[in-house]
Amino acid sequence: MAHTELGGRIAVVTGASAGIGEAIARDLAARGAKVVVNARRADRLAALVSSLGEANAAAVAGDASEPAVVDRMLDVARERFGAGTREADLVVVNAGRGLAGSVVTSDVTQWEQMVRTNVLGAAHLIRAAGRRMLKRTEGKTGHDVLSGGSQDIVIIGSNVGRHISPFSSMYGSTKFAVNSMAEAVRRELGPRGIRVTLIAPGFVTSEFQGVAGYETAWFEEVKQRIGPTLTPEDVARTIGFVVSQPASVHLCDVLIRPTRQDYP
Ligand SMILES: NC(=O)c1ccc[n+]([C@@H]2O[C@H](COP(=O)([O-])OP(=O)(O)OC[C@H]3O[C@@H](n4cnc5c(N)ncnc54)[C@H](OP(=O)(O)O)[C@@H]3O)[C@@H](O)[C@H]2O)c1
Repeated sequence: MAHTELGGRIAVVTGASAGIGEAIARDLAARGAKVVVNARRADRLAALVSSLGEANAAAVAGDASEPAVVDRMLDVARERFGAGTREADLVVVNAGRGLAGSVVTSDVTQWEQMVRTNVLGAAHLIRAAGRRMLKRTEGKTGHDVLSGGSQDIVIIGSNVGRHISPFSSMYGSTKFAVNSMAEAVRRELGPRGIRVTLIAPGFVTSEFQGVAGYETAWFEEVKQRIGPTLTPEDVARTIGFVVSQPASVHLCDVLIRPTRQDYP
């Protein structure tokens, strides 16, 4: 039986051409949400939209760290699924990348792109989505800010954004930034009825390891030692559960690890 608990919700998911973001888009759509998907690879997004159905999904290709692309995602959500007036109310800040090695050993030529995507891109989307979501509760006070229904900003942090990992410390630093941003914005927007949720996964097998430049033999050893690792679907299902709670209930901070992951 099809889920309908997110019927009427308008979602935006960045980094949806692969891995966790694609699984989130599929899960939200299966629960009844309309979904705008973003990533840089337009062909992968087109295939995703066609599999979800054009009535349920739309693509905005581009770099999620660019403010103009962020605005376009939110505009498309409003125009395609909100009858030109209703803004996206379920925004998943997922686009990101890893980087093998520490501050001392990692490839310094990739630092700027990683910081731009993981930190500045996240900040631009949180800011733009938050400003639009605030319009729904303008003029409302007290419990009444929840009367228009749930609004969610879900931010994908990382286990290494809260537990220090010396072997991927430059990447971990970007996720520590996102972690603090998420809680700060939660304190700011929660009282206005907007749930700001941090999801911090441990090891998830996806394209992440290849993009980050992890050595295959090292990751195979990790998988043997602490696996089974999480799947993108495990993370997506958790988010689906979180955003399906009543508007007055907020599971605001979820650390999800493979059961056998001991460290970090
Ligand atoms: N895998 C893990 O173990 C793990 C653990 C904790 C947290 N995370 C976080 O989870 C998120 C998703 O990672 P994943 O495991 O699903 O990795 P993935 O399989 O490599 O997917 C990353 C997605 O982000 C997109 N992307 C990257 N840079 C982008 C940009 N500048 N603009 C728009 N889209 C961009 C990629 O698509 P294009 O290349 O088409 O743009 C892709 O769709 C990331 O924030 C990551 O840091 C992952």
